[in-house]
Amino acid sequence: MSISLPERIELGVDTNLRWMTVDDAETIAHAVGESLDHLKPWMPWADAQSADVGFQRGRLRNQPQQRERDEEWQYGLFTGDDDAFIGAFGLMTRRGPGKLEIGYWLHVDAGNRGHATRAAQALTEAGLRIESIDRMIIVCDEANVRSAAIPKRLGYTLERVEERPPEAPGETGRTQIWIAERIAPTTTP
Ligand SMILES: CC(C)(COP(=O)(O)OP(=O)(O)OC[C@H]1O[C@@H](n2cnc3c(N)ncnc32)[C@H](O)[C@@H]1OP(=O)(O)O)[C@@H](O)C(=O)NCCC(=O)NCCS
Repeated sequence: MSISLPERIELGVDTNLRWMTVDDAETIAHAVGESLDHLKPWMPWADAQSADVGFQRGRLRNQPQQRERDEEWQYGLFTGDDDAFIGAFGLMTRRGPGKLEIGYWLHVDAGNRGHATRAAQALTEAGLRIESIDRMIIVCDEANVRSAAIPKRLGYTLERVEERPPEAPGETGRTQIWIAERIAPTTTP
């Protein structure tokens, strides 16, 4: 499988998604630190370590290899003239061949403006343009209603609910699997 995703996606209104690099480590660590209370209920990794610049540098250093292995693409969401970082969006192949999962979080001050919905929409479209991908997936806990509102708003279908041990303090363990599938072109007889 070889997956070719764009390095940068313009979302309009001065906002763009682009692959993050080691140079973004300080910005991300700072954003995580400022957003910890907002992230902790839902993101198992949200702790003091994830707000550390060295930790983020190590994580981002592995990104080129992860992209080469078709495993993971980490995008930052940036806005305004100063390209301020307002959120992180990941695409992952861990759900198996033909599938791309989208994960996301916004800076605590960046919510309620549609940024996450627009970014998830752009990544859904980018994923489904890839020939080897026919299904986009968003996974969230039933209690995370703000997260679940995103696939719902984008027309995803709730495929199933899985039970698993909660991984973060806000979770119930009832995990929603939302899917968007490529619509096969109709063939004329
Ligand atoms: C999940 C998360 C990204 C959702 O953020 P959000 O602010 O609700 O999402 P958006 O940026 O898409 O904004 C949507 C809101 O903006 C409003 N909005 C304003 N302008 C909009 C526009 N042009 N387009 C879409 N929505 C718009 C929407 O109505 C919606 O508000 P509502 O739910 O009150 O109707 C955020 O809550 C978060 O970072 N949570 C912590 C991490 C997390 O849970 N990640 C997901 C794990 S599964």
